Amino acid sequence: MSKAIPVTSHAAGRRPAHPSITRQQVSDLVDQFYGRIRQNDRLGPIFEMQIEKDWDTHLEKMKLFWSSVLLRTGDYKGQPVPAHVKLTGVETGDFQIWLGMFSQTVDEVFDPDARPVVVEAAQRIATSLWLAMFGGAMTKPPVWATK
Ligand code: HEM
Repeated sequence: MSKAIPVTSHAAGRRPAHPSITRQQVSDLVDQFYGRIRQNDRLGPIFEMQIEKDWDTHLEKMKLFWSSVLLRTGDYKGQPVPAHVKLTGVETGDFQIWLGMFSQTVDEVFDPDARPVVVEAAQRIATSLWLAMFGGAMTKPPVWATK
């Protein structure tokens, strides 16, 4: 059984995570973030191996995902946990790299007031994914989850 991540916990009200967030920003976030990922020596190959040549499908899916998280559209129907648990060779430090590049992109795309809201959403989901992948009784929690 995979654990469900409540990405749309406030979907009922359909209010964006922050009122300034637009669909265009969500789209730019995904395009620019994965542009960065693909150039990263450590994470690039992990994604390329899994996604192979179908980046268009991945980017479309990720736009639905971030629209659901940030605009509460409820458009994303996937299952992030199994998609990550199956990955081999991912380490805790890779989440730090992922979050670092994500924060940089957020700074480029969103209004200053919205940035912490977006970064906190990513940290929350990263923690859920990290727990699904690595969380055992003897495992030290990652830094971003203990702040
Ligand atoms: C080191 C960290 C991470 C790595 C290496 C990673 C890698 C990947 C890869 C390779 C895929 C494609 C899986 C496939 O299509 O078979 C994927 C999918 C996905 N990732 Fe990540 N990811 C990471 C962190 C995150 C985080 C922090 C989030 C959310 C904040 C996230 C959200 C997603 C989502 C929503 C999908 C699509 C799942 C689906 O419905 O198929 N990932 N990830």
